[in-house]
Amino acid sequence: MLISARELSKTYAMGDQTVHALRGVSLDIAQGEMVAIMGTSGSGKSTLMNILGCLDQPSSGSYRLAGEAVQGMAPDALASIRNRRIGFVFQQFNLLARTSALENVELPLVYAGIKAPQRHARALEALHRVGLGERVHHTPAELSGGQQQRVAIARALVNQPPLLLADEPTGALDSQTSDDIMRLLADLNHQGITVVLVTHEPDIAAWARRKLVFKDGRMVEDTVQAQAEGRSTAAGPPQSVMAPVAGDPLGRWGSDPQTSGAWGL
Ligand SMILES: Nc1ncnc2c1ncn2[C@@H]1O[C@H](COP(=O)(O)OP(=O)(O)OP(=O)(O)O)[C@@H](O)[C@H]1O
Ligand SMILES: [Mg+2]
Repeated sequence: MLISARELSKTYAMGDQTVHALRGVSLDIAQGEMVAIMGTSGSGKSTLMNILGCLDQPSSGSYRLAGEAVQGMAPDALASIRNRRIGFVFQQFNLLARTSALENVELPLVYAGIKAPQRHARALEALHRVGLGERVHHTPAELSGGQQQRVAIARALVNQPPLLLADEPTGALDSQTSDDIMRLLADLNHQGITVVLVTHEPDIAAWARRKLVFKDGRMVEDTVQAQAEGRSTAAGPPQSVMAPVAGDPLGRWGSDPQTSGAWGL
């Protein structure tokens, strides 16, 4: 199991009030799954994503990522896990301005201590992978919103993580561009990368085979589409027939062994 979380709780002290952002969430996500997280504002989606992404620690509960127990780890150990295992995509792209697409994508490799020639090669490959091979010297201001999000996705992929976490990746994009970005994420998922995304849009969630719904810090729904395999890339999101999750989804859709090797899965 790539993600295995048990009874995650997160509380924040606000003056003499306690905010319960998560109230005992247990969750397994297998390698190769594509999962959409929905729920009203304030229901705990970003709190969960921050914990899954090792950006924050739960107040209680346990979390194993690829078999490694994450809770209680020191900050530098968490940073190392993030570098090796997780790519992040955010609503606002978070690119460096006045810096080319290529340099933006190279940044995680700079932190990882990789030398310049290899950095260039890997960043170029990641930009080609997201369809931006012709735009590598453009700065964010010289790119459309959708293209900027592609740069951000290339940056998330450049360390070849098995897991991509995207918190409202289409929240700042129009619907056509959103579809393009979701097609890209679905393609990456078909190549073996596990994708977990937060969205407020049912049309966006329909790209994922599995949907989780949060309410008041609890997971109140966990459903899998009856038949999604292979449809999302060609024809857009499947019109979903949602069925309850039965057993371990890995048996039905593991990652593609032919392509997953290239991504170190
Ligand atoms: N750093 C913090 N300090 C105090 N309270 C917080 C903090 N972060 C989040 N919260 C609270 O925790 C709850 C869950 O917040 P969270 O950001 O996870 O919601 P969300 O589901 O992502 O909402 P949205 O859809 O608006 O992004 C909210 O009540 C929020 O106010
Ligand atoms: Mg949020």
